[in-house]
Amino acid sequence: MEKSLIIGAAGQIGTELVSQLRSRRGKNNIIAVDLRIDNLSSPCFELDAMNETALRDLVLKEGISEIYHLVAMLSVTGEKAPQKAWDLNMKTLFSVLDLAKEGLIKRIFWPSSIAVFGPSTPKIQTPQYCSMDPTTAYGISKLAGELWCQYYFKNYGVDVRSLRYPGLISWKTMPGGGTTDYAIDIFHSASRREEFISFLEPDTRLPMMYMDDAVRATIEIMEAESDAIRIRSSYNLAAVDFTPSELGIAIKKIKPEFEMSYSPDSRQAIAKSWPSSIDDTQAKLDWGWKSRYNFLSIVKLMTDKI
Ligand SMILES: NC(=O)c1ccc[n+]([C@@H]2O[C@H](COP(=O)([O-])OP(=O)(O)OC[C@H]3O[C@@H](n4cnc5c(N)ncnc54)[C@H](O)[C@@H]3O)[C@@H](O)[C@H]2O)c1
Repeated sequence: MEKSLIIGAAGQIGTELVSQLRSRRGKNNIIAVDLRIDNLSSPCFELDAMNETALRDLVLKEGISEIYHLVAMLSVTGEKAPQKAWDLNMKTLFSVLDLAKEGLIKRIFWPSSIAVFGPSTPKIQTPQYCSMDPTTAYGISKLAGELWCQYYFKNYGVDVRSLRYPGLISWKTMPGGGTTDYAIDIFHSASRREEFISFLEPDTRLPMMYMDDAVRATIEIMEAESDAIRIRSSYNLAAVDFTPSELGIAIKKIKPEFEMSYSPDSRQAIAKSWPSSIDDTQAKLDWGWKSRYNFLSIVKLMTDKI
């Protein structure tokens, strides 16, 4: 059995991806690393992905053949330190791409984001190929990263696979500083019976996805035959789209005491520059992607679990 390394394993996606991969492929074949490992179970190691030598040593020592590289500074956090976001997001990606270029690992998963799109992008059913002018340091790093992935595939044969995740909704781990975090925070406020104050305007429609769908998409694209992966920058991926107002109304139907109000902040400008919905036809055609969770099932699951 091949061994996989998950970098950034303690984050919102990593926590759930590690657990899914371990149940499919056996605990000892999935190595989890992060800056902090208190919430991870072994095999796991403390590792700073900026330390290229430590990363290389671990890959060689553990006989890793596949890396899921999840480390990034996200959209909101990245705007507070744009240069740091660029350095972290790009340097760590190059370290992983270079390990594959040298033949030390066989396959890479690296997530991109809807943050690669910008104000000039068609907003409704955003196509795979279109105008892209990201406004955040995070989005710029993801768009550059996509092009470097494609470059390493074309020029060095690196088998790198990528998805443009929409906002991901989960209950196990708190989100890590993104513009779509409101769609998780709202369920925590509802469960504490507190009024929820949305940092986005009521009609800001964004593409979203339940975490189980995102983790399944990640595993499916990584398990697909290499020939099926015809896009080596990053695939559009979609499930649902909704506004804060629609989400509030749906929660109120389950919890009639729930109240929300609006106090938009700087995150509104980021959200406004992103698509409202995504066309993921290419992912469906190439490797058979299909989402399973719709808006109402996500609301029901989140209110039950939190
Ligand atoms: N969560 C979303 O809604 C979403 C949407 C689109 C794309 N993505 C992408 O998916 C990936 C994972 O996102 P997430 O939401 O799990 O992020 P997160 O912030 O929850 O997790 C990132 C993890 O990386 C770790 N990390 C940071 N710097 C590190 C370093 N130098 N060395 C080792 N570990 C380090 C953090 O400790 C954290 O546990 C990111 O690339 C992100 O851009 C996420």
